[in-house]
Amino acid sequence: HIKDIIPGPRKYPFVGSVREILPDMTKGWMKMFRLYGPLVNINFLGTEVYGTNDPAIVELFAKESEYFTKKIGLGLDEIKAFGGSGLFTTDSDDAEWKLAHKLLMPAFSPRAIKAYLEDMGHIAMETIKTLEEYKPEEPVEILDWTTRLTFETIGRIGFGYNFGLLESRDTPLHPFIEAMAYCLVHAIERTKQMQFIKKLPLEQNKKFDRSIKLMNDIVDQVIKERKESPEATDKNKDLLGFMLNARDEHNLSLTDENIRYQVVTFLIAGHDTTANTLAWLIYELTRNPEIEQQMLQEIANVGITHDKVPTYEQVSELKYMHRCLKETLRKHPPLRVLGKYCKKDCIVPGGYRLKEGSRCSINVYGMHHNPEVYPEPEKFDPERFTPEEEQKRSRFAWLPFSTGPRSCIGMAFALQEAKVVMAMFLHRFKFVYDGPEIEFDPNMPTTKPDHFYVNIQPRTDFP
Ligand code: HEM
Repeated sequence: HIKDIIPGPRKYPFVGSVREILPDMTKGWMKMFRLYGPLVNINFLGTEVYGTNDPAIVELFAKESEYFTKKIGLGLDEIKAFGGSGLFTTDSDDAEWKLAHKLLMPAFSPRAIKAYLEDMGHIAMETIKTLEEYKPEEPVEILDWTTRLTFETIGRIGFGYNFGLLESRDTPLHPFIEAMAYCLVHAIERTKQMQFIKKLPLEQNKKFDRSIKLMNDIVDQVIKERKESPEATDKNKDLLGFMLNARDEHNLSLTDENIRYQVVTFLIAGHDTTANTLAWLIYELTRNPEIEQQMLQEIANVGITHDKVPTYEQVSELKYMHRCLKETLRKHPPLRVLGKYCKKDCIVPGGYRLKEGSRCSINVYGMHHNPEVYPEPEKFDPERFTPEEEQKRSRFAWLPFSTGPRSCIGMAFALQEAKVVMAMFLHRFKFVYDGPEIEFDPNMPTTKPDHFYVNIQPRTDFP
């Protein structure tokens, strides 16, 4: 029995049902799932959207298939204003995506990731030195520092470029970061605006354009410097080396413009999400001392210290830390929704027919907080990710990195970086926070702890 009407709130002319899910779209969607079930139809300013928090439907949406794909629209089209033809903001059937995906995958092979370890460790050590400048009683917004650290990491490892963000506690943020932050926040704002507003000569629109230009100019300069350097033809130097020198079997290579957008994309995608993850894990440890204790014990057993780059073998032995990271990414997925597109009529679990041309939305946050999938979803519990527990769930029930060909190319990079940093940080410092529960800032496109300040004390209880 096929159902053509998918449950959802009432729709009004022009705005559709957008009011039902604003101002905080995450909470709004969660309410929709509670009211209407696991598949909900919303009209978003004239566009029909089908959202789900059910792993069985997510599995269909997430896999690239004859029915579903990633096609830029609804929010991602605003990010495309600066992500351009970079990997993140191109359609799966776009020749530029296919070529770049094929050429850049080797830069994320296990061997390549292993080679990045040395730099990751050194950058963590530099950050530790700078954090030592704080007095134990001073409140520190730790997200600021995880952001600096991850940005330096992708800047140096990806592009051989030092942004100088870790020199001292008073070093100002780089203009690129400020421009990027504005673009990301404003892009989200634009998704809620009618088309004509985006074209008016308003200061917000001008600042958006200025910020995009600033990012492009900085990146063009980085590329120019590399092209003029003796290392210009070294494919294996870093990601930029790959981008400039990789050729496919038909001798095709990335265009200059495409490389610019790839660099912008990697600078953004390569740091913000990992920075959030580190800050959330620190937060969860301040609230779960017994979990912190187990983590410290593991770091001690493996023999990682804050003043030496850990070995690849040591990092791979951090099994408990791996589970804690997975649980952090479950509870606080940096990307709360993934946009997909239905390219052929399809019957989904529940018997609903989705029409060709519909926008589909994987509500990662909603699924990760769905009590039918994760009982007591607000509880931080790394034991959800033991091999036995994972067996009991659909493998599509955990999607912080998405899945399939359009999944995160940097997943192994991010996980290795997070482990190195956490192990070294925890060996050196105890992060203290005893304030109220922290929520994410709904105005930010990625999931960031809102006003999370810690005290950074020297660690004296290392086992
Ligand atoms: C794509 C999450 C770290 C580079 C994605 C996607 C997700 C994601 C969910 C798919 C987006 C979509 O379907 O629209 C994360 C999370 C990270 C992380 C949670 C950290 C915890 C990184 C890092 C890099 C990176 C470290 C680079 C070094 C990319 C790129 C894409 C992507 C280039 C687009 C891939 C493609 O479609 O070909 N990421 N990411 N990410 N990520 Fe990540």
